[in-house]
Amino acid sequence: MNDNNIYPIFDRMLTRADKERLLGQRGVMLWFTGLSGSGKSTLAIALERALQERGKLCRILDGDNIRTGINNNLGFSDEDRTENIRRIAEVAKLFVDTGIITLAAFISPTERMRQMARTIIGAADFKEIYVSTPVEECERRDVKGLYAKARAGLVKNFTGISAPFEAPAAPALTLDTSRLSVAESVSRLLGLLGME
Ligand code: ADX
Repeated sequence: MNDNNIYPIFDRMLTRADKERLLGQRGVMLWFTGLSGSGKSTLAIALERALQERGKLCRILDGDNIRTGINNNLGFSDEDRTENIRRIAEVAKLFVDTGIITLAAFISPTERMRQMARTIIGAADFKEIYVSTPVEECERRDVKGLYAKARAGLVKNFTGISAPFEAPAAPALTLDTSRLSVAESVSRLLGLLGME
């Protein structure tokens, strides 16, 4: 017996193409960017359901499963948001490389942060979705009561109020949820994926 009795076929990790063949789908990253309350998570959740109905496997990454877990040591300074997005992109890449349709819903407020995510994941797999709902509408909704707190100075560095948001220059899709129904937005997202 020598040390060489492991056959290469058994010690080779299965590839992304192997996984995609198993799943009958292609891995892709849909990166939703927009203000707090713009509808990013709502659209990701509705799209996930529509894709599940079509037999497609998805994974949503959003603040509820990331900022409470892997990123629970990060705040909202520019530095912490950058690290937030970096870790999210690295995790998302693992899902995309497993052939999974991966949906990330984070403010990701600057071009630099989103460019970093695109570079980590790979431009060919990265589709930027700009949820362009105007700040007035997000503030009117104020689902979490954070706009009121930001106006009162109780939340610092609040995106759209006291911290910047840079609109994407060339998103794959722009969806304004103050003008489009969830169903209409989902239909456009399915169109982008070629699954309408
Ligand atoms: S990001 O800027 O780092 O991409 P992320 O999407 O993870 O932000 O988290 C945004 C969510 O955190 C908001 O929807 C809101 O619920 C909460 N939040 C708490 N403080 C802030 C803040 N200063 N600015 C923006 N969102 C905040």
